[in-house]
Formats: sequence, structure tokens, C-alpha cells
Amino acid sequence: MSSILITGSNRGMGLEWARQYAARGWRVYATCRQPEEADDLRGLQRQHDHVSVHQLDVTSVDHIKKIIREFKATPLDILVNNAGVYYERWGKDKLGGIDYGAWQATFDVNTLGAVRVTEALRANLAQSEKRLVVVITSHMGSIADIKQANDYAYRSSKAALNAAVQGLVHELADDGIGVLLVHPGWVRTRMGGSEAPLSAAESVTHMRALAERFRPKDSGRFYRYDGSILPW
Ligand SMILES: NC(=O)c1ccc[n+]([C@@H]2O[C@H](COP(=O)([O-])OP(=O)(O)OC[C@H]3O[C@@H](n4cnc5c(N)ncnc54)[C@H](OP(=O)(O)O)[C@@H]3O)[C@@H](O)[C@H]2O)c1
Repeated sequence: MSSILITGSNRGMGLEWARQYAARGWRVYATCRQPEEADDLRGLQRQHDHVSVHQLDVTSVDHIKKIIREFKATPLDILVNNAGVYYERWGKDKLGGIDYGAWQATFDVNTLGAVRVTEALRANLAQSEKRLVVVITSHMGSIADIKQANDYAYRSSKAALNAAVQGLVHELADDGIGVLLVHPGWVRTRMGGSEAPLSAAESVTHMRALAERFRPKDSGRFYRYDGSILPW
């Protein structure tokens, strides 16, 4: 049975990744910060006996160690680094109002978190057939896309994620592991808000298609959910 592990899968697009792969009969390891509060995931688990829920705060070294122990010698076909934060969406971040603590916390989740989890599960991915890491980035991580002030923390965290992924591509290729770096579009989630044009189901359906037709040459390209290429 093919398997997938998703970070931040209690809501938004992470939950949708879990739903779509559960519906296709995959073994789904759904991770989130607070499993006891993840009602939607628990509901999914009740519907499918091949779905399990695991605690994983991507900033927690203890959680990472626990995941390494729990998944020892378990092959993993796809890892989806989905967990993300966009703190300044709810506050001021112009010069004079920058919250540097929130900026550091943003890096800890959006940049370091994805690398930590990938590092932890590298051996599991290497043992699988598909051997794919999906990294959910943002068009806001495109330096070419910056046309205004604001969003310093989010933009720089995703640009740094993109840079880190370029390095990972080379190291993971040694184990035959590919990396799909993808912007999901503007999506109606708590982060994206209600005005966004895409539903989580639409976005994840497109990203899943990219994952399904992934080839090693696609590793590290900066994709939009629809398969077009974004500028760095
Ligand atoms: N929505 C958009 O338009 C859009 C556009 C471009 C890129 N993205 C990216 O898409 C990804 C998913 O976003 P979304 O729109 O689905 O956002 P969302 O609905 O706000 O969900 C974010 C998820 O990340 C989790 N998370 C936050 N901090 C975490 C941590 N330290 N450890 C583990 N999980 C953590 C949240 O868990 P809690 O419930 O515990 O907070 C939640 O499950 C993110 O990487 C985001 O940057 C979104």
C-alpha cells in the first residue's frame, strides 16, 4: 500500500491532502500540532482504517525525535511539507511596526520546519517506491514577484525555503528522492481567506496531479499548482 505523511493536516489544504489520499486507499499518516483537537481528522480516521493521526509540531525537536522513533523502518512514498504560518497577514509589518519575534517564528515553521521533517524522514522516503517530497511554497517566495512593501516575514521565509530546497534537491538525489516545490494558488483556507478564488479541493487536485506525474527532472523547479513555472 502506498503511503503519505502530511504536516499541518488538521485543517486547510493539509486536511484536503489527507482526504484525497485516504479516498484513494493510501496509507495516510496525518500529522498536526494538537491531535486531541483535530475533529475533522478524527472523523476521517473513523471513515478509513488506513488513516492514523500523529502529533507533530514542525518546530519541536522532541516531536521530531518521536516521529523518527515511531516511523523507524516504515517506508514512506510521499512527504508533504504543508504546515505554514502567515502571522503578519493579521498585523502591521511596515517599517516602525515590524514584529521581529513573529518573523523568527515564521522562519522556524515555514523554512526550518520543512527541512527538519524532510531530514527526519529521509531514510523512510529512500525505502519507498515513489520517493517524493512535496514542499508547499508560495508565489510570495518569488523575489521577482515583490512589487510592494509588507509581508517581509512570510515572503522571506518562503524565499529561504525555496533556496533551501535547491540544496536539498542535490542531497536527496543521492537516495533517488525527488522534490516537488509548488505554489498552491490563492486558496480559501484560514490563511487564504474567503475571497480566494480556489477551493482547497481544487488546489490539492491539481497538486496531486503534479505529484502523480512527477519525474526526476522536475525536482526543484518552482511550480504553480497548474503546472506552469514561476520565476525565482
Ligand atoms: N491559502 C493560500 O492562499 C496559500 C497560498 C500560498 C501558499 N500557501 C501555503 O499553503 C500551506 C497550507 O496553508 P493553508 O492555506 O492550508 O493554511 P491554514 O488553513 O492556515 O493551515 C495551516 C496549517 O499549518 C499548521 N501549522 C502551523 N504551525 C505549525 C507547526 N508549528 N507545526 C505543525 N503544523 C503547523 C496549522 O496547524 P494549527 O491548526 O495547529 O495552527 C494548520 O494545520 C502553507 O504552507 C501556506 O504557506 C497557502
